Amino acid sequence: MKRTKINALLGSQPAGQVVKAEGWVRTFRNNQFISINDGSTIQNLQAVVELNQLDETLLKRITTGACISVTGQLVASLGKGQAVELKVTELIILGDCDAEAYPLQLKNRPSLEYLREIAHLRARTNTFGAVMRVRHAMAFAIHKFFNDRGFFYIHTPVITGSDAEGAGAMFRVTTLDANNPPRDEHGHINHHEDFFGRETNLTVSGQLEGETYALALSEIYTFGPTFRAENSNTTRHLAEFWMIEPEMAFYDIHDNMQLATDLLQYLVKYALENCKDDLEFLHKRAQDEENTKPQDQRSELGLLERLRFVTENEFQKLSYTEAIEILKNSNPNKKKKFQYLIDQWGVDLQSEHERYLVEKHFKKPVILYNYPREIKAFYMRQNEDNKTVAAMDVLFPGIGEIIGGSQREERYDRLVHRIQEMNLPEKELWWYLDLRKFGSAPHSGFGLGFERLILFVTGMTNIRDVIPYPRFPGNAEF
Ligand code: 4AD
Ligand code: MG
Repeated sequence: MKRTKINALLGSQPAGQVVKAEGWVRTFRNNQFISINDGSTIQNLQAVVELNQLDETLLKRITTGACISVTGQLVASLGKGQAVELKVTELIILGDCDAEAYPLQLKNRPSLEYLREIAHLRARTNTFGAVMRVRHAMAFAIHKFFNDRGFFYIHTPVITGSDAEGAGAMFRVTTLDANNPPRDEHGHINHHEDFFGRETNLTVSGQLEGETYALALSEIYTFGPTFRAENSNTTRHLAEFWMIEPEMAFYDIHDNMQLATDLLQYLVKYALENCKDDLEFLHKRAQDEENTKPQDQRSELGLLERLRFVTENEFQKLSYTEAIEILKNSNPNKKKKFQYLIDQWGVDLQSEHERYLVEKHFKKPVILYNYPREIKAFYMRQNEDNKTVAAMDVLFPGIGEIIGGSQREERYDRLVHRIQEMNLPEKELWWYLDLRKFGSAPHSGFGLGFERLILFVTGMTNIRDVIPYPRFPGNAEF
Protein backbone atom coordinates (compact mmCIF):
# COMPACT_ATOMS: atom_id res chain seq x y z
CA MET A 1 0.00 0.00 0.00
CA LYS A 2 1.18 3.50 -0.84
CA ARG A 3 1.71 6.07 1.86
CA THR A 4 -0.33 9.29 1.90
CA LYS A 5 1.23 12.48 3.24
CA ILE A 6 -0.25 13.78 6.47
CA ASN A 7 -1.31 17.14 5.01
CA ALA A 8 -3.43 15.24 2.46
CA LEU A 9 -4.90 12.95 5.12
CA LEU A 10 -5.86 15.87 7.33
CA GLY A 11 -7.57 17.55 4.39
CA SER A 12 -9.63 14.53 3.33
CA GLN A 13 -13.12 13.38 4.36
CA PRO A 14 -12.87 10.61 6.96
CA ALA A 15 -15.10 7.73 5.81
CA GLY A 16 -13.32 4.73 7.21
CA GLN A 17 -11.06 4.38 4.17
CA VAL A 18 -7.88 2.41 4.75
CA VAL A 19 -4.74 4.57 4.50
CA LYS A 20 -1.08 4.43 5.36
CA ALA A 21 0.95 7.21 7.01
CA GLU A 22 4.64 7.36 7.80
CA GLY A 23 6.53 9.79 9.95
CA TRP A 24 8.26 10.56 13.23
CA VAL A 25 6.64 10.16 16.62
CA ARG A 26 6.22 13.44 18.46
CA THR A 27 4.41 12.06 21.52
CA PHE A 28 2.84 8.83 22.69
CA ARG A 29 0.19 9.16 25.40
CA ASN A 30 -1.56 6.54 27.51
CA ASN A 31 -0.16 3.70 25.39
CA GLN A 32 -2.90 4.70 22.93
CA PHE A 33 -2.48 8.04 21.18
CA ILE A 34 0.50 8.50 18.89
CA SER A 35 1.04 11.90 17.39
CA ILE A 36 2.99 11.64 14.15
CA ASN A 37 4.59 14.32 12.01
CA ASP A 38 5.99 13.83 8.52
CA GLY A 39 6.97 17.43 7.77
CA SER A 40 4.33 17.93 5.08
CA THR A 41 2.52 20.26 7.49
CA ILE A 42 2.98 21.63 10.97
CA GLN A 43 -0.07 19.59 12.06
CA ASN A 44 0.39 16.11 13.48
CA LEU A 45 -1.71 13.07 12.67
CA GLN A 46 -3.19 11.25 15.62
CA ALA A 47 -2.95 7.48 15.30
CA VAL A 48 -4.91 5.45 17.82
CA VAL A 49 -4.05 1.93 18.96
CA GLU A 50 -6.44 -0.17 21.03
CA LEU A 51 -5.30 -1.15 24.49
CA ASN A 52 -3.80 -4.65 24.31
CA GLN A 53 -3.61 -4.47 20.53
CA LEU A 54 0.20 -4.39 20.43
CA ASP A 55 2.55 -6.47 22.47
CA GLU A 56 4.65 -4.95 25.21
CA THR A 57 7.97 -4.93 23.32
CA LEU A 58 6.50 -3.13 20.34
CA LEU A 59 4.78 -0.54 22.58
CA LYS A 60 8.12 0.24 24.22
CA ARG A 61 9.63 1.04 20.84
CA ILE A 62 7.08 3.79 20.10
CA THR A 63 9.19 6.60 21.49
CA THR A 64 9.56 10.29 20.70
CA GLY A 65 11.71 10.55 17.57
CA ALA A 66 11.12 6.98 16.34
CA CYS A 67 10.09 6.63 12.71
CA ILE A 68 6.98 4.54 12.18
CA SER A 69 4.58 3.37 9.53
CA VAL A 70 0.90 3.02 10.43
CA THR A 71 -1.93 1.59 8.39
CA GLY A 72 -5.59 1.73 9.31
CA GLN A 73 -8.93 3.42 8.86
CA LEU A 74 -9.27 7.19 8.63
CA VAL A 75 -12.19 8.17 10.86
CA ALA A 76 -13.68 11.31 12.36
CA SER A 77 -11.95 12.01 15.64
CA LEU A 78 -13.88 11.95 18.88
CA GLY A 79 -11.18 13.82 20.71
CA LYS A 80 -10.65 17.57 20.68
CA GLY A 81 -7.87 19.18 18.65
CA GLN A 82 -8.17 17.20 15.43
CA ALA A 83 -10.88 16.45 12.89
CA VAL A 84 -9.62 13.05 11.80
CA GLU A 85 -7.59 10.22 13.27
CA LEU A 86 -6.19 6.94 12.07
CA LYS A 87 -7.39 3.71 13.74
CA VAL A 88 -4.31 1.56 13.58
CA THR A 89 -4.54 -1.98 12.22
CA GLU A 90 -0.84 -2.36 11.45
CA LEU A 91 2.17 -0.61 12.97
CA ILE A 92 5.77 -1.04 11.85
CA ILE A 93 8.82 0.58 13.42
CA LEU A 94 10.98 1.85 10.57
CA GLY A 95 13.65 3.37 12.79
CA ASP A 96 14.05 3.08 16.54
CA CYS A 97 14.97 6.10 18.61
CA ASP A 98 16.58 5.79 22.01
CA ALA A 99 14.49 8.19 24.04
CA GLU A 100 17.24 8.68 26.63
CA ALA A 101 19.82 9.74 24.05
CA TYR A 102 17.52 11.69 21.72
CA PRO A 103 18.31 15.39 22.14
CA LEU A 104 14.86 16.60 21.09
CA GLN A 105 12.65 15.78 24.04
CA LEU A 106 9.65 18.06 24.01
CA LYS A 107 9.52 18.32 27.77
CA ASN A 108 12.49 20.63 28.13
CA ARG A 109 12.00 22.99 25.18
CA PRO A 110 15.47 23.29 23.69
CA SER A 111 16.84 26.81 23.11
CA LEU A 112 17.58 28.09 19.60
CA GLU A 113 21.28 28.27 20.55
CA TYR A 114 21.31 24.61 21.50
CA LEU A 115 19.38 23.66 18.36
CA ARG A 116 22.11 25.31 16.25
CA GLU A 117 24.54 22.76 17.65
CA ILE A 118 22.27 19.93 16.51
CA ALA A 119 21.31 21.48 13.18
CA HIS A 120 21.04 17.99 11.66
CA LEU A 121 18.04 17.28 13.90
CA ARG A 122 16.46 20.69 14.38
CA ALA A 123 14.31 20.40 11.24
CA ARG A 124 12.19 17.97 13.27
CA THR A 125 11.00 20.73 15.57
CA ASN A 126 7.86 22.72 14.83
CA THR A 127 9.82 25.95 14.58
CA PHE A 128 12.36 24.78 12.01
CA GLY A 129 9.79 22.80 10.05
CA ALA A 130 7.72 25.97 9.76
CA VAL A 131 10.70 28.18 8.86
CA MET A 132 11.90 25.81 6.15
CA ARG A 133 8.46 25.40 4.60
CA VAL A 134 8.15 29.19 4.47
CA ARG A 135 11.66 29.41 3.00
CA HIS A 136 10.64 27.00 0.26
CA ALA A 137 7.44 28.94 -0.45
CA MET A 138 9.41 32.18 -0.78
CA ALA A 139 11.93 30.64 -3.20
CA PHE A 140 9.07 29.34 -5.31
CA ALA A 141 7.25 32.68 -5.21
CA ILE A 142 10.39 34.54 -6.29
CA HIS A 143 10.64 32.43 -9.43
CA LYS A 144 6.93 32.82 -10.03
CA PHE A 145 7.02 36.60 -9.65
CA PHE A 146 9.82 37.02 -12.16
CA ASN A 147 8.60 34.37 -14.57
CA ASP A 148 5.14 35.96 -14.66
CA ARG A 149 6.79 39.27 -15.60
CA GLY A 150 8.91 37.82 -18.38
CA PHE A 151 12.26 37.90 -16.56
CA PHE A 152 14.81 35.19 -17.39
CA TYR A 153 16.62 33.26 -14.66
CA ILE A 154 20.37 33.47 -15.33
CA HIS A 155 22.94 31.31 -13.56
CA THR A 156 25.93 33.51 -12.89
CA PRO A 157 29.17 31.80 -11.88
CA VAL A 158 29.96 30.86 -8.29
CA ILE A 159 33.71 30.86 -8.94
CA THR A 160 34.91 34.12 -10.42
CA GLY A 161 37.93 36.33 -10.87
CA SER A 162 35.96 39.53 -10.31
CA ASP A 163 35.26 41.36 -7.09
CA ALA A 164 31.89 42.94 -7.83
CA GLU A 165 31.54 45.07 -4.72
CA GLY A 166 35.19 46.09 -4.53
CA ALA A 167 34.90 45.34 -0.85
CA GLY A 168 37.74 42.85 -0.72
CA ALA A 169 36.05 40.40 1.64
CA MET A 170 36.34 37.30 -0.49
CA PHE A 171 36.99 33.60 -0.04
CA ARG A 172 39.91 32.46 -2.18
CA VAL A 173 39.51 29.45 -4.44
CA THR A 174 42.73 27.61 -5.12
CA THR A 175 44.12 24.12 -5.64
CA LEU A 176 47.66 25.14 -4.77
CA ASP A 177 49.34 23.34 -1.89
CA ALA A 178 48.78 25.65 1.08
CA ASN A 179 51.97 24.36 2.73
CA ASN A 180 54.17 24.74 -0.29
CA PRO A 181 52.72 27.04 -2.95
CA PRO A 182 54.75 27.83 -6.08
CA ARG A 183 56.36 31.27 -5.89
CA ASP A 184 57.63 33.74 -8.47
CA GLU A 185 61.02 35.47 -8.40
CA HIS A 186 59.66 38.09 -5.93
CA GLY A 187 58.46 35.40 -3.53
CA HIS A 188 54.79 36.04 -4.32
CA ILE A 189 52.47 33.06 -4.78
CA ASN A 190 52.44 32.21 -8.48
CA HIS A 191 48.80 31.95 -9.49
CA HIS A 192 49.74 31.17 -13.08
CA GLU A 193 50.29 27.65 -11.80
CA ASP A 194 46.91 27.56 -10.04
CA PHE A 195 43.92 25.65 -11.40
CA PHE A 196 42.48 28.58 -13.33
CA GLY A 197 45.81 30.19 -14.10
CA ARG A 198 44.83 33.22 -12.08
CA GLU A 199 43.51 34.29 -8.69
CA THR A 200 39.90 33.32 -8.16
CA ASN A 201 37.33 33.62 -5.41
CA LEU A 202 33.77 32.67 -4.51
CA THR A 203 31.35 35.26 -5.81
CA VAL A 204 30.26 38.17 -3.61
CA SER A 205 27.53 39.10 -6.11
CA GLY A 206 26.35 38.00 -9.54
CA GLN A 207 25.53 41.56 -10.51
CA LEU A 208 28.28 42.37 -13.01
CA GLU A 209 27.72 39.16 -14.96
CA GLY A 210 23.96 39.74 -14.59
CA GLU A 211 24.34 43.14 -16.26
CA THR A 212 25.84 41.53 -19.34
CA TYR A 213 22.71 39.41 -19.74
CA ALA A 214 20.32 42.30 -19.05
CA LEU A 215 21.93 44.11 -21.96
CA ALA A 216 20.91 41.23 -24.18
CA LEU A 217 17.71 39.73 -22.72
CA SER A 218 16.35 42.99 -21.20
CA GLU A 219 15.11 41.64 -17.87
CA ILE A 220 16.92 38.93 -15.95
CA TYR A 221 17.44 37.77 -12.39
CA THR A 222 19.91 35.58 -10.55
CA PHE A 223 19.15 33.59 -7.42
CA GLY A 224 22.12 31.83 -5.95
CA PRO A 225 24.59 31.44 -3.10
CA THR A 226 26.83 34.39 -2.29
CA PHE A 227 29.93 34.46 -0.11
CA ARG A 228 31.43 37.17 2.05
CA ALA A 229 34.44 36.71 4.27
CA GLU A 230 33.65 39.73 6.44
CA ASN A 231 34.19 39.13 10.10
CA SER A 232 30.63 40.15 10.97
CA ASN A 233 29.35 38.27 13.98
CA THR A 234 25.84 39.67 13.93
CA THR A 235 22.28 38.39 13.80
CA ARG A 236 22.01 39.83 10.25
CA HIS A 237 25.14 38.48 8.54
CA LEU A 238 26.15 35.11 7.15
CA ALA A 239 29.36 34.17 5.36
CA GLU A 240 27.25 32.14 2.91
CA PHE A 241 23.85 33.56 2.02
CA TRP A 242 21.47 33.49 -0.92
CA MET A 243 20.80 36.57 -2.97
CA ILE A 244 18.24 37.45 -5.62
CA GLU A 245 19.58 39.98 -8.13
CA PRO A 246 17.27 41.30 -10.84
CA GLU A 247 18.87 43.45 -13.52
CA MET A 248 16.83 45.38 -16.06
CA ALA A 249 17.67 47.31 -19.21
CA PHE A 250 15.71 50.55 -19.73
CA TYR A 251 14.89 50.98 -16.02
CA ASP A 252 15.89 54.13 -14.16
CA ILE A 253 16.25 54.39 -10.38
CA HIS A 254 12.51 55.06 -9.95
CA ASP A 255 11.50 52.01 -11.98
CA ASN A 256 13.99 50.08 -9.86
CA MET A 257 12.40 51.24 -6.59
CA GLN A 258 8.97 50.33 -7.92
CA LEU A 259 10.07 46.82 -8.84
CA ALA A 260 11.65 46.32 -5.40
CA THR A 261 8.39 47.44 -3.76
CA ASP A 262 6.25 45.19 -5.98
CA LEU A 263 8.50 42.20 -5.32
CA LEU A 264 8.52 42.56 -1.54
CA GLN A 265 4.78 43.15 -1.32
CA TYR A 266 4.11 40.20 -3.62
CA LEU A 267 6.28 37.87 -1.53
CA VAL A 268 4.77 38.85 1.79
CA LYS A 269 1.27 38.51 0.37
CA TYR A 270 2.17 35.11 -1.06
CA ALA A 271 3.33 33.96 2.37
CA LEU A 272 0.14 35.22 4.05
CA GLU A 273 -1.98 33.35 1.53
CA ASN A 274 0.01 30.14 1.21
CA CYS A 275 1.70 29.55 4.58
CA LYS A 276 -1.22 30.17 6.95
CA ASP A 277 -0.63 27.34 9.45
CA ASP A 278 3.09 27.94 9.67
CA LEU A 279 2.74 31.71 10.02
CA GLU A 280 0.12 31.34 12.73
CA PHE A 281 2.49 29.08 14.63
CA LEU A 282 5.41 31.49 14.10
CA HIS A 283 3.23 34.42 15.14
CA LYS A 284 2.50 32.78 18.49
CA ARG A 285 6.11 31.76 18.88
CA ALA A 286 7.31 35.33 18.30
CA GLN A 287 4.71 36.60 20.73
CA ASP A 288 5.96 34.25 23.46
CA GLU A 289 9.47 35.51 22.83
CA GLU A 290 8.32 39.15 22.94
CA ASN A 291 6.64 38.54 26.28
CA THR A 292 9.98 37.66 27.83
CA LYS A 293 11.26 41.17 27.01
CA PRO A 294 10.74 44.32 29.05
CA GLN A 295 7.58 46.21 28.04
CA ASP A 296 9.37 49.11 26.35
CA GLN A 297 11.38 46.81 24.07
CA ARG A 298 8.43 44.85 22.74
CA SER A 299 7.37 45.59 19.20
CA GLU A 300 4.00 47.20 18.76
CA LEU A 301 2.79 44.82 16.07
CA GLY A 302 2.69 41.04 16.09
CA LEU A 303 4.15 39.08 13.18
CA LEU A 304 0.92 38.77 11.20
CA GLU A 305 0.11 42.46 11.68
CA ARG A 306 3.62 43.39 10.54
CA LEU A 307 3.25 41.31 7.40
CA ARG A 308 -0.17 42.76 6.57
CA PHE A 309 1.13 46.23 7.24
CA VAL A 310 3.84 45.84 4.60
CA THR A 311 1.38 44.65 1.96
CA GLU A 312 -1.06 47.46 2.65
CA ASN A 313 1.18 50.53 2.94
CA GLU A 314 3.31 52.50 0.53
CA PHE A 315 7.00 52.46 1.35
CA GLN A 316 8.40 55.84 2.35
CA LYS A 317 10.80 57.20 -0.28
CA LEU A 318 13.45 59.48 1.13
CA SER A 319 16.69 60.92 -0.22
CA TYR A 320 19.87 60.44 1.78
CA THR A 321 20.05 64.22 2.24
CA GLU A 322 16.55 64.34 3.74
CA ALA A 323 17.42 61.39 5.98
CA ILE A 324 20.50 63.17 7.32
CA GLU A 325 18.38 66.22 8.24
CA ILE A 326 15.90 64.03 10.13
CA LEU A 327 18.65 62.12 11.91
CA LYS A 328 20.63 65.24 12.81
CA ASN A 329 17.60 66.70 14.56
CA SER A 330 16.44 63.44 16.13
CA ASN A 331 16.27 62.95 19.87
CA PRO A 332 18.80 60.10 20.06
CA ASN A 333 21.28 62.24 18.10
CA LYS A 334 20.78 65.35 20.24
CA LYS A 335 20.92 63.31 23.44
CA LYS A 336 23.99 61.48 22.13
CA LYS A 337 22.23 58.12 22.35
CA PHE A 338 23.45 56.98 18.92
CA GLN A 339 26.76 55.18 19.05
CA TYR A 340 27.71 57.02 15.84
CA LEU A 341 26.49 60.63 15.99
CA ILE A 342 25.31 62.25 12.79
CA ASP A 343 27.20 65.52 12.47
CA GLN A 344 27.63 66.04 8.74
CA TRP A 345 26.42 65.18 5.28
CA GLY A 346 28.42 62.36 3.74
CA VAL A 347 28.72 59.92 6.64
CA ASP A 348 27.66 56.32 6.12
CA LEU A 349 24.48 55.30 7.93
CA GLN A 350 24.73 52.62 10.59
CA SER A 351 21.98 50.16 11.35
CA GLU A 352 20.98 52.19 14.44
CA HIS A 353 20.18 55.13 12.12
CA GLU A 354 18.33 52.98 9.61
CA ARG A 355 16.25 51.43 12.35
CA TYR A 356 15.46 54.83 13.85
CA LEU A 357 14.07 56.02 10.51
CA VAL A 358 12.02 52.88 9.94
CA GLU A 359 10.86 51.94 13.43
CA LYS A 360 10.61 55.27 15.22
CA HIS A 361 10.26 58.09 12.72
CA PHE A 362 8.21 56.75 9.81
CA LYS A 363 7.05 53.47 11.30
CA LYS A 364 7.04 51.83 7.88
CA PRO A 365 9.47 50.49 5.30
CA VAL A 366 11.74 53.19 3.90
CA ILE A 367 13.54 53.42 0.57
CA LEU A 368 16.60 55.64 0.87
CA TYR A 369 18.06 56.87 -2.41
CA ASN A 370 20.70 59.22 -3.86
CA TYR A 371 23.57 58.42 -1.52
CA PRO A 372 26.93 60.23 -1.43
CA ARG A 373 29.19 58.88 -4.15
CA GLU A 374 32.08 58.30 -1.72
CA ILE A 375 30.32 55.63 0.32
CA LYS A 376 28.98 53.58 -2.60
CA ALA A 377 30.30 51.15 -5.22
CA PHE A 378 32.00 52.25 -8.45
CA TYR A 379 29.25 51.08 -10.77
CA MET A 380 26.49 53.34 -9.47
CA ARG A 381 25.22 56.06 -11.78
CA GLN A 382 26.55 59.52 -10.98
CA ASN A 383 23.93 62.21 -10.49
CA GLU A 384 24.20 65.69 -12.02
CA ASP A 385 25.00 67.26 -8.63
CA ASN A 386 28.47 65.63 -8.79
CA LYS A 387 28.04 64.51 -5.20
CA THR A 388 25.54 61.70 -5.18
CA VAL A 389 24.85 58.47 -7.05
CA ALA A 390 21.50 56.88 -7.97
CA ALA A 391 21.73 54.24 -5.24
CA MET A 392 18.83 52.85 -3.23
CA ASP A 393 18.49 50.77 -0.07
CA VAL A 394 15.21 49.32 1.16
CA LEU A 395 15.03 49.33 4.94
CA PHE A 396 12.62 47.07 6.84
CA PRO A 397 11.43 47.11 10.45
CA GLY A 398 13.42 44.77 12.68
CA ILE A 399 15.81 43.97 9.82
CA GLY A 400 17.40 47.16 8.55
CA GLU A 401 18.73 46.84 4.99
CA ILE A 402 16.90 44.10 3.11
CA ILE A 403 17.67 45.33 -0.43
CA GLY A 404 20.57 47.29 -1.89
CA GLY A 405 20.70 48.45 -5.51
CA SER A 406 21.17 51.28 -7.98
CA GLN A 407 20.88 52.59 -11.47
CA ARG A 408 24.15 51.62 -13.18
CA GLU A 409 26.63 54.00 -14.77
CA GLU A 410 26.06 53.37 -18.46
CA ARG A 411 28.35 56.18 -19.73
CA TYR A 412 31.75 54.83 -20.68
CA ASP A 413 33.80 57.93 -19.83
CA ARG A 414 32.18 58.49 -16.48
CA LEU A 415 32.64 54.85 -15.52
CA VAL A 416 36.30 54.70 -16.50
CA HIS A 417 36.93 57.91 -14.62
CA ARG A 418 35.37 56.46 -11.46
CA ILE A 419 37.30 53.20 -11.79
CA GLN A 420 40.55 55.13 -12.03
CA GLU A 421 39.62 57.45 -9.18
CA MET A 422 38.98 54.44 -6.96
CA ASN A 423 42.15 52.65 -8.06
CA LEU A 424 40.26 49.61 -9.31
CA PRO A 425 41.80 47.19 -11.80
CA GLU A 426 40.58 48.74 -15.04
CA LYS A 427 42.20 46.00 -17.15
CA GLU A 428 40.32 43.22 -15.42
CA LEU A 429 37.03 45.00 -15.96
CA TRP A 430 37.52 45.04 -19.76
CA TRP A 431 34.40 42.97 -20.41
CA TYR A 432 32.30 45.13 -18.09
CA LEU A 433 33.51 48.26 -19.88
CA ASP A 434 32.78 46.64 -23.27
CA LEU A 435 29.08 46.78 -22.38
CA ARG A 436 29.38 50.58 -22.33
CA LYS A 437 31.19 50.59 -25.66
CA PHE A 438 28.89 48.34 -27.64
CA GLY A 439 25.29 49.46 -27.47
CA SER A 440 25.15 50.72 -23.91
CA ALA A 441 21.73 51.27 -22.35
CA PRO A 442 20.37 52.81 -19.19
CA HIS A 443 19.82 49.97 -16.72
CA SER A 444 19.26 49.23 -13.07
CA GLY A 445 19.12 46.40 -10.60
CA PHE A 446 19.21 45.40 -6.96
CA GLY A 447 20.06 42.58 -4.58
CA LEU A 448 17.58 41.09 -2.11
CA GLY A 449 19.13 39.13 0.75
CA PHE A 450 17.08 35.94 0.83
CA GLU A 451 17.72 35.14 4.51
CA ARG A 452 16.88 38.70 5.54
CA LEU A 453 13.57 38.27 3.73
CA ILE A 454 12.98 34.97 5.57
CA LEU A 455 13.83 36.66 8.88
CA PHE A 456 11.17 39.26 8.22
CA VAL A 457 8.50 36.82 7.06
CA THR A 458 9.02 34.29 9.86
CA GLY A 459 9.61 36.74 12.69
CA MET A 460 12.78 34.86 13.68
CA THR A 461 15.44 37.11 15.13
CA ASN A 462 18.75 35.43 14.24
CA ILE A 463 19.76 34.87 10.62
CA ARG A 464 21.47 31.62 11.66
CA ASP A 465 18.02 30.16 12.28
CA VAL A 466 16.55 30.68 8.81
CA ILE A 467 19.11 28.72 6.74
CA PRO A 468 19.63 24.96 7.19
CA TYR A 469 23.37 25.08 7.89
CA PRO A 470 24.61 28.58 8.73
CA ARG A 471 28.19 29.55 7.95
CA PHE A 472 29.70 32.30 10.08
CA PRO A 473 33.13 33.13 11.50
CA GLY A 474 34.42 30.10 13.35
CA ASN A 475 31.65 27.77 12.20
CA ALA A 476 31.30 25.42 9.25
CA GLU A 477 30.00 22.32 11.08
CA PHE A 478 27.90 19.87 9.04
O1 4AD B 1 24.03 45.68 -0.50
P1 4AD B 1 24.73 44.51 -1.11
O2 4AD B 1 26.13 44.27 -0.72
O3 4AD B 1 24.58 44.73 -2.68
C1 4AD B 1 25.13 43.98 -3.67
O4 4AD B 1 25.75 42.94 -3.52
C2 4AD B 1 24.76 44.44 -5.05
N1 4AD B 1 25.70 43.85 -6.00
C3 4AD B 1 23.34 44.05 -5.32
C4 4AD B 1 22.87 44.50 -6.69
O5 4AD B 1 22.70 45.69 -6.89
N2 4AD B 1 22.68 43.58 -7.60
O6 4AD B 1 23.90 43.18 -0.81
C5 4AD B 1 22.55 43.08 -1.19
C6 4AD B 1 21.71 42.49 -0.07
C7 4AD B 1 21.69 43.33 1.20
O7 4AD B 1 20.74 44.34 1.15
C8 4AD B 1 21.34 42.29 2.25
O8 4AD B 1 19.94 42.03 2.26
C9 4AD B 1 22.04 41.05 1.72
O9 4AD B 1 22.25 41.23 0.34
N3 4AD B 1 23.33 40.81 2.38
C10 4AD B 1 23.55 39.85 3.29
N4 4AD B 1 22.74 38.93 3.84
C11 4AD B 1 23.26 38.09 4.74
N5 4AD B 1 24.56 38.09 5.13
C12 4AD B 1 25.43 38.99 4.59
N6 4AD B 1 26.72 38.98 4.95
C13 4AD B 1 24.92 39.92 3.63
N7 4AD B 1 25.49 40.94 2.91
C14 4AD B 1 24.50 41.45 2.16
MG1 MG C 1 24.25 47.24 0.78
